[in-house]
Amino acid sequence: MQEKQSIHGSWANRWIFILAATGSAVGLGNIWKFPYITGENGGGAFVLVYLVCILLVGVPIMMGEVLVGRRARQSPINAMREVAKESGHSGKWSLVGLMGVMSGFMIFSFYSVVAGWVLYYVAGMGKGDFVGVGSEQAGAIFNNLLGDWQSLMIWHTVFVVMVMAVVAGGVNKGLERATRVMMPALFVLLLLLLGYSMNTGHFAEGWNFLFKFDVSKLTWDAVLVALGHSFFTLSLGMGAIMAYGSYMPKKASIGGTVMTIAAMDTLVALVAGLAIFPIVFANQLDPGAGPGLMFVTLPVAFGQMAGGQLFGFLFFVLIGVAAWTSAISLMEPAAAWLVENFNMSRKVACVLLALTVWGLGILALGSFNFLSDFTIFGMNTFDFLDFATANIMLPLGGIFISLFAGWFVKKKVSLDELAMEENNLFYLWYISIRFIAPVAVSIIFAINLYQKLV
Ligand code: PFF
Ligand code: NA
Repeated sequence: MQEKQSIHGSWANRWIFILAATGSAVGLGNIWKFPYITGENGGGAFVLVYLVCILLVGVPIMMGEVLVGRRARQSPINAMREVAKESGHSGKWSLVGLMGVMSGFMIFSFYSVVAGWVLYYVAGMGKGDFVGVGSEQAGAIFNNLLGDWQSLMIWHTVFVVMVMAVVAGGVNKGLERATRVMMPALFVLLLLLLGYSMNTGHFAEGWNFLFKFDVSKLTWDAVLVALGHSFFTLSLGMGAIMAYGSYMPKKASIGGTVMTIAAMDTLVALVAGLAIFPIVFANQLDPGAGPGLMFVTLPVAFGQMAGGQLFGFLFFVLIGVAAWTSAISLMEPAAAWLVENFNMSRKVACVLLALTVWGLGILALGSFNFLSDFTIFGMNTFDFLDFATANIMLPLGGIFISLFAGWFVKKKVSLDELAMEENNLFYLWYISIRFIAPVAVSIIFAINLYQKLV
């Protein structure tokens, strides 16, 4: 039987899929967001809840996304419709894909602003702007950057163009080629820097902060943040992994592949935490400082240390590469959909998408300067985009995808795509995706809603 292929192309082999999906997963979520939300939520207990969410909710849902994408070999919006129909259900399931594309735009807009900060720091580190800075000075440099909308705009624009250029190249000449170069570079840089951070002193303090479990610090709010982050960090709930799955070669086991991706993502987040918190404590900085944490602590550390300029430069290059490979996957589902449905060339589609996310990004970067007085539900636009996507839209997308894969896709189809026998392992996944994932996410939602309303 002739195997069905995506019109966009396919990954050369299973490892390219693993690397590409890991490229999507490993990003600002791991290196920037994970450390600062862990700091804001008190450390160990939060980390534990996060790990449980990855295992019980994230992994099964990622399998579901890959399964649906690979079955249909189309962009998420069309894949949901196609697979629903194949199993005898309404094509309206495509709306879940549509919500995903919208989440992708919203994430992209603030993601690109933070990636812009990273690029600014790459340049600054390269020029030696941070040599010898103390924490006050580092804080001032960061705040000055936030207040300067023109600089923010320049770097945001550069990042959008970088992403557009890769996605416009297509699955093989764009995404796959970028993956082959950037992912090995990312791992080498990460190892280098881990070694460096282990020599910063205060390593044990950082370790304890991450792994010492203190239940009293746990709130329902923190649980919601941990859950939302498990979706964000694994790129779930919006179709990115579904799109990548649609380019996956047949007859590669989805379970083992997905476990590898989730493990790598988790590892990078923990390593980032272990690199950042020792520095925070060494310089008596506040672990709960919020989004600026990484941008203030790291320059301080690098500013004081031997070889700091070079390592600081490499560190921000690493973060930039990680952000780049992630943002590519934020644009790909929408690009593939425009190509499939509107007979548009991929290049034109990418230019249109880039313009859209660029415009939205301006609203996000304005939060720190010209739009600082404008709030939605008490949040500035940047915080609102982050909150609405990570804590509401991605988990909601996750509920729908798990219900879809668990209850609507025919069992035979799932077995076939997962390349599994009807054994205990399959039932473990089946129970997770049918019951554990949707029920857990719904309960956490309901409790938070109740707490906000009452
Ligand atoms: N997983 C990425 C990170 O941790 O930085 C963020 C992300 C990328 C979320 C792609 C969603 C997505 F579709
Ligand atoms: Na991640």
